Amino acid sequence: MQEKLRVGIVGVGAIAQAGHIPSYLRRDDVEIIAFADPEESRVREVAKKLAADHGVATAHVYASLAAMVEDVTLDAVSICTPNNSHVELAVYALEHGLHVLLEKPMGLSREEGARLKDVARASGKTLMVGMTHRYREDAAVLKRFVEAGDLGELYYAKTRILRRRGSPTGWFTDAKVSGGGPLMDIGVHALDLTWWLMGTPRPISVSGFLHKGIGNDGLDFINTWQAQSAGNEDNQIYTTEDFAAAFIRFDTGAVLQVEVAWSLNGEQDDALKVDIFGSKGGVSLDPLRYYSVAHRVLTETKPVVGMGAYYEREINHFLECVRTGQTPISNVTEGRTVIDMLCGIAESSRQQAEIRF
Ligand SMILES: NC(=O)c1ccc[n+]([C@@H]2O[C@H](COP(=O)([O-])OP(=O)(O)OC[C@H]3O[C@@H](n4cnc5c(N)ncnc54)[C@H](O)[C@@H]3O)[C@@H](O)[C@H]2O)c1
Repeated sequence: MQEKLRVGIVGVGAIAQAGHIPSYLRRDDVEIIAFADPEESRVREVAKKLAADHGVATAHVYASLAAMVEDVTLDAVSICTPNNSHVELAVYALEHGLHVLLEKPMGLSREEGARLKDVARASGKTLMVGMTHRYREDAAVLKRFVEAGDLGELYYAKTRILRRRGSPTGWFTDAKVSGGGPLMDIGVHALDLTWWLMGTPRPISVSGFLHKGIGNDGLDFINTWQAQSAGNEDNQIYTTEDFAAAFIRFDTGAVLQVEVAWSLNGEQDDALKVDIFGSKGGVSLDPLRYYSVAHRVLTETKPVVGMGAYYEREINHFLECVRTGQTPISNVTEGRTVIDMLCGIAESSRQQAEIRF
């Protein structure tokens, strides 16, 4: 019988409760030992509920990662805190001998991305970035089509998540905490997934456009993601963009177009859409398709697969990497390049000029 892995959760807000905690609870080789969160009443409540609902020992609660590390022995932590704390907390955990599953975005600046990569490498521990969409079953199927060469030479890709309305509430719209609006929140997913499906080509330049338009128009009956951290519940602070677009060139000659919106006067669509076009075929996500030619006839294939339990698959992969030492699918090296591209997009928008890497 394997020893149980001792896991701590840092930040017990919306995504910790919706994604991380339930996925760890499904495993009988993992024990959630401790929670760290400065919002005392919530962290106590979460620990109490977990013990009552699942018949497990009540986890220890702490106000900070440092207090947690000081007091209990852990193997790994999930970091599920607001964006501006990601790198500091991940560095602290790695330097204290812990494996880390870090929520997206991995960092908020090119310097942060580089620092985390160096620290992770020196620590010898697993640092996995929570790029949840890479763990979708339909995405895994598209990856197989691309890797088998079914698309031929890839030369153009498009990705988008265009909400008519859907700014998250809470710290997400406060640029000091989130580091950006839809670009850092959902753009990171769209860009990361499409770039990964393309085979992670090296970016050579980006041209970006960020716009603050209609995101804070205070309409009624909008259902959206709500951060649980106290403050900014009504988005009184709205200092981020609400729309972003970009054009990225790669050393393979291929280009990628990205469009993401929390608010845009067009059709509501919360889905992550991908199109990748090649010389022999193309694929799309949502709807899931492979477009090709057979016997001199245009063909269209619908792979029979859904999204699957992607959070569970993400957590299972993290635990597998911790146990075996294998490099995560969503690793720190690729995470750093994604941060470089995201920050390049924002910088290009500020300068109103293309940024070259
Ligand atoms: N992978 C996904 O699809 C996905 C989906 C939603 C959110 N996220 C990411 O998860 C992270 C958390 O988002 P959320 O919606 O759960 O936010 P949230 O506000 O609901 O929860 C954040 C929690 O972290 C706590 N916290 C703040 N600073 C802390 C610190 N220094 N140490 C410990 N705890 C601290 C807060 O008190 C709060 O309980 C964000 O980075 C977000 O981008 C990812």
